[in-house]
Amino acid sequence: MAEGHSSWTALGENVSERKLTLESVVDINLGMSWKGRSLLSIADLKVTEIDAILSLARQYKQKCRQSQMTPYSAADARVVAEVFFETSTRTRLSFQMASQRLGLRVLGMELMTGSSLAKGESQVETILNIAAMEPDALVIRSSLTDEIEACLRDLGIPAVNAGAGTSGHPTQALLDLMTLQEAFGDLKGKKLLFVGDIRHSRVANSNFELLPRYGVELAYCSPPQFAPQDPSWAKVQSFSDLSKGLAWCDAVMGLRVQEERHGPSGFDRDDYIRRFRLDEEHLSPLSGKGRILHPGPFKAGMDFSPELLSDPRCLIREQVSNGVYVRMAILSLILGLEGSN
Ligand code: CP
Repeated sequence: MAEGHSSWTALGENVSERKLTLESVVDINLGMSWKGRSLLSIADLKVTEIDAILSLARQYKQKCRQSQMTPYSAADARVVAEVFFETSTRTRLSFQMASQRLGLRVLGMELMTGSSLAKGESQVETILNIAAMEPDALVIRSSLTDEIEACLRDLGIPAVNAGAGTSGHPTQALLDLMTLQEAFGDLKGKKLLFVGDIRHSRVANSNFELLPRYGVELAYCSPPQFAPQDPSWAKVQSFSDLSKGLAWCDAVMGLRVQEERHGPSGFDRDDYIRRFRLDEEHLSPLSGKGRILHPGPFKAGMDFSPELLSDPRCLIREQVSNGVYVRMAILSLILGLEGSN
C-alpha cells in the first residue's frame, strides 16, 4: 500500500462508540487522521467513523441551509477527478456540488462517449493516466473488479467508490442512513423493507452492510428472480406479498428493476407492476408514520409511481440533498480540509 493511502479502519480506537458530537469531530483531529484515506466499501468503516462522517454532514447541511458555508481556503486549486465508467446523475453531480461547496475544483469528462476507451484503452489504464495528472482525490464509478480495486489501493491518491457494479455503493448507504436518522432518530428496532430488484442492487448490498449496525431490521419483497443471491442474505426475512411487507415495516426502499443487467430473463413486466410497483394503492398498508425511500433513478410506471413524490411520507428528494452533505464530509475528511480555515 502506497504511503499516505491507508484503510479507513485505522481510526476510532480512542473514541467511545456513539458519543461523537459535532465538536468532537474536530476535537479528535480527524482532519489529520483521515487525510489520504480511501473509501471503497462500508466494510472499511467503523461505527465511530460513520458517526463522524454524519456529524460533519449535518454540520455542513446546517451551514449551507443558513448560507453560512464558506469554501475552505486550503481547497483552492485542489482537484477532485471524476472517473465514471457508468452513467450517473445524482452521484456525479452531488460530488460536483460537494466539491464546489468546499471550494475544490473538479476534473471530469464523459468517459463513456468521449474518451480513449472508445479506442480500446482499458479502464485500469484510464485510471492510471488520470492519476498521473496528480489530482488530489478520485471519485470512481466502475465495476470495481479485483484488478481495479488493486490499482486504486496502490495509487497513492485517495479514492471514493461512487457506485460499483452490483456490489456496493457506500456513499449512497451513508446518505440513506442520514436520511433515516433524520426521520426516526434512533434506528434501533426500526424495520426497513427493500422492494424490487435486490439481486442487482449495489445500494441494497451497502445498506445490508450498514443499517443492521445501527439496529435496523431488514427484509425484502421481490419476485424470485430478483431475490438476493449472496449467501450472506440467507437469514434476511422475505415477503412475497407486498401488503404484508408494508404492514411489517417502518420504511420501504424501492429499488429499480435493472433490466440492463439481466440478459434474457423472461421477466413479466405486467405481473411485476401488478404485484410490486410502489404506488399509492399498493402503499395503503404502510403506516401514516412510515417513510418511502428510493435511491433513484426509478422507472416511472414500472417500479415507482411519480405520484408518490408528493406523499408527505416520501423522502426521496431529501436523500438527494443529503447526498451532497455526506459527500462534502467525506471529501473534506480525506483531503484534510476540516479545521483548516
Ligand atoms: N442513486 C444513484 O446512484 O443515482 P445515479 O445513478 O443517478 O448516480
